[in-house]
Amino acid sequence: MKDIILTGIRSNDEPTLGNYLGAMRPMADLQRKFAGRYQINMFVPDLHSFTTPIDHSTLYDSSIRNLKYFVAAGLDIDDPNTFIYRQSFIPAHSELTVILNNFTGFGEMARMTQFKDKSAAQNDNVSVGLFDYPVLMAADILLYGAKYVPVGEDQTQHLEITRDIGLRMNHKFGELFVIPEETKKQVEFMNLNRGLRIRSLSDPTRKMSKSIQDPRGTILLSDSPDAAAKKVMSATTDSVGQVNFDWENQPGVTNLLQILVLLTGRPQDEINAEWTGQTSYGELKKAVATAVRDFLTDFQTKLGEIDESRLLDKLSRDEMAMAEVANETLLRVQRAVGLRQKK
Ligand code: TYM
Repeated sequence: MKDIILTGIRSNDEPTLGNYLGAMRPMADLQRKFAGRYQINMFVPDLHSFTTPIDHSTLYDSSIRNLKYFVAAGLDIDDPNTFIYRQSFIPAHSELTVILNNFTGFGEMARMTQFKDKSAAQNDNVSVGLFDYPVLMAADILLYGAKYVPVGEDQTQHLEITRDIGLRMNHKFGELFVIPEETKKQVEFMNLNRGLRIRSLSDPTRKMSKSIQDPRGTILLSDSPDAAAKKVMSATTDSVGQVNFDWENQPGVTNLLQILVLLTGRPQDEINAEWTGQTSYGELKKAVATAVRDFLTDFQTKLGEIDESRLLDKLSRDEMAMAEVANETLLRVQRAVGLRQKK
């Protein structure tokens, strides 16, 4: 049995450069780096995709499009250790959620930062689905016994609650679940020193997000390369007048440096040495705009070359294979809680 690396990207809206840099590309990089030493599960949490309101007429196609994005980001779907699937096609995700709900505190969920932020933005329109989001995410991870879960910094708390729920169940019922590694080890595994958080270009105190209406600050993977470059050129910076890598005091400039590092694949130290002390923000913006334009041109070309029928074949084979794994875990849990007869 290989250890599992697992992540999911919702299909609620067009993915952003933040989704790409925070989760899509790291998965493709890890797949390449560990060639065959780990199993890779990369899935579309489609049930998570309407925890806040969406246009349902586009959801089905968006899920397929997301899978294509994984491929354009470099995920090799011919690798026999890599599995792609949609959450709702494996009903065990929903059923395990209903069980885990009973071992999760209302207070625990109410404290989740993302729930607090999103429910504040939704006013009276807050669904129980939004509240329960982290439990469904815990089910996604625990069903397969994933050890590593590459996610952006905004998902750290959800990963921690997954560990808490899993450990609680193991404590009560014996060894039911493999528990994912703690945050520090996850971050190290991704070769980072802290969780990744790409900021909005228009308001660099906030993360770049697909669910917030912030078109100027958000680079979508479907943006035309020129339009995206323009967004970079009009990014909010500061009045310091000198480039420094400093999240506290110069988040806009630091965000640009971070994007440059990730898109060029050059080491952070090298980029920092090149730009620190420079006084022209315009030059930095130009360098980042070029990197973004080149990246999107290449990404969108790859997207256009994907063989959809091969992808869909792989998808249905993997959904069957992963349903078996998930059902095994579910049965173990059902037996433990008394829903099925013990062996
Ligand atoms: P989603 O679709 O909202 O985000 C997908 C991934 O993109 C990361 N991300 C970012 N990373 C860096 N900077 C940003 N500005 C940025 N914006 C988004 C997110 O952290 C995430 O890794 N809850 C998950 C989906 C999910 C999941 C799972 C992930 C459901 N079940 C099980 C892992 C394991 C989410 O945030 O999706």
